[in-house]
Amino acid sequence: MRVYLETFGCQMNELDSELVHSQLSSLGYEFVDRPDEAQIVLYNTCSVREQAEQKAYSRIGIVGQRKKAGERLILGVIGCMAERDGLDMMRRHPQVDLLCGPAELDRLPQLIDNARTAMAASTETQAADRAVGLAPRSARVALAGNRTRRTATLAAAEDNLEALDLSRSFRLSGEHARRRSAYVRITRGCNKFCTYCVVPNTRGAEVHRPPDHIVEECRRLADAGALEITLLGQTVNHYRYTHGTAVSVGGSELAQVGPGLSAFRSSAQSAAGPTSGTRVTTFADLLARIHDEIPQLPRLRFVTSYPRDFGTDILTVMRDCPRICRYLHAPAQSGSDRILKLMNRGYSTGEYLEFVAAALEYLPDAGIAGDIIVGFPTETDEDFEATVALVRRVPFKNNFIFKYSPRPGTAAIERFEDDVPDAVKRARNNALLAVQAEVSAAVHATWVDRTVPVLFDDVREIVAPNQATRGSAQPRVELGWERPHQTGPSSSTPSTPVIQAVGRTPQDLIVAVDCGSREDAESVMGSIRAVRIKAAMPLLLRGQFG
Ligand code: SAH
Ligand code: SF4
Ligand code: F3S
Repeated sequence: MRVYLETFGCQMNELDSELVHSQLSSLGYEFVDRPDEAQIVLYNTCSVREQAEQKAYSRIGIVGQRKKAGERLILGVIGCMAERDGLDMMRRHPQVDLLCGPAELDRLPQLIDNARTAMAASTETQAADRAVGLAPRSARVALAGNRTRRTATLAAAEDNLEALDLSRSFRLSGEHARRRSAYVRITRGCNKFCTYCVVPNTRGAEVHRPPDHIVEECRRLADAGALEITLLGQTVNHYRYTHGTAVSVGGSELAQVGPGLSAFRSSAQSAAGPTSGTRVTTFADLLARIHDEIPQLPRLRFVTSYPRDFGTDILTVMRDCPRICRYLHAPAQSGSDRILKLMNRGYSTGEYLEFVAAALEYLPDAGIAGDIIVGFPTETDEDFEATVALVRRVPFKNNFIFKYSPRPGTAAIERFEDDVPDAVKRARNNALLAVQAEVSAAVHATWVDRTVPVLFDDVREIVAPNQATRGSAQPRVELGWERPHQTGPSSSTPSTPVIQAVGRTPQDLIVAVDCGSREDAESVMGSIRAVRIKAAMPLLLRGQFG
């Protein structure tokens, strides 16, 4: 059977898709690059903003048309929309055959099997139904309803998802030959319940994986050729594993439902457990273990950090471990204390600034990135100006800026009217992007004339100013056209295509190097090279091999 799998949303979803790919490939399914070549079309979806859902719905609509026209194929919606929209989606989109939430992905092969059997049976049933004048019956399968949220304690003991993470294969072929970068999940789910956010509903309660499993997975990936590992968690620095509380019959440790906030309030800076004598692995301990036990791994990074839980124990480990990337993605979300409260973020702007000051004290070269939501309900011009002031104060290398999108099932949609008009949201979004571009350019300028290690993973051909770039891989960030300021009329020929090798520094700064040919650019893919930075632009740095 031929499968087409497309992914929307965050790195968690990218990793899930990779696991689904491994899982189905090992069962003999073949993956194809286009939906029209597939017998099974799977969309791994995101619910975080309405726009993300709409993108998926338009894809579902197109495949739905093919099914209506009589094509026999299985259309599956997996991931966060399957969880959030669940059976309602099945009702409104009769062409969807299969639903599978993120907490049920280990059972996807079984669901596909069921859908295939149901489809074969329904063809016969429908013929029989039609013969006697009955309406055709449904033949669809669904698994949503987050297991971890439903049975928070039992889930730890029957965590088949753990097996799914452990089963992944990483070979230096295809995309990995180029990127040599891998994700490793350390925490699933989220317990924060920021009022705007759908993730705690779609991903379930916070569950921490056993450190031994994580270290082992990192070791296998490094041995297989990964040059960079990114540890994943919605609040990755909230990781905390108490040993000896969840052990299977075979003696190995199991994923563990996260501790309550009290554990952090009492001992955020210490590796000691909440009860004396209990052995605990904190996030700082985990970072140090991976760094020390896998010396062959050149780069270790992590996303996404929750500002409030970021203790100096983590900063100390980062400072002392040179192969841990000096990169912190720690979203501020807003610069207004009033809005932060309504968002239930649990910190004030002052506390966020304290966190940044501590980070820069320990790691002066750190790349700091974040996310910001504009147009949260009741956000005034004054609130927005406070956000602008925060962005100007912190040396953010970049911020992802989002317009508030009311999400079903969240506290914000229940409590607050979405009262900031879309035109105002858009204007604030654009204004903040312009401010961020200035801040990014200033941060980037500090890197000119320095030599940095760059892990290359993309080749781009820039055709002409303001035109789209053509990368051989799907770009992870839109770079746009950025040339250093031209000094003379004949210093370049705008119509000549420029081939660039593109990669990232440990701070996650994007670096582009002009290459003589595509072959030259290809030759550095999947390797770390020293680059001398020559020019700084808002979105990227340009340099030469040095
Ligand atoms: N766990 C991460 C964020 C995960 S969601 C954290 O807490 O930082 C990624 C980003 O999407 C969030 O940081 C937020 O900026 C944005 N986001 C989430 N829900 C949103 C909503 N309803 N409307 C607009 N942006 C939203
Ligand atoms: Fe969503 Fe907040 Fe959890 Fe991040 S921390 S996933 S924004 S609820
Ligand atoms: Fe989207 Fe789910 Fe990630 S809602 S942002 S894919 S956790």
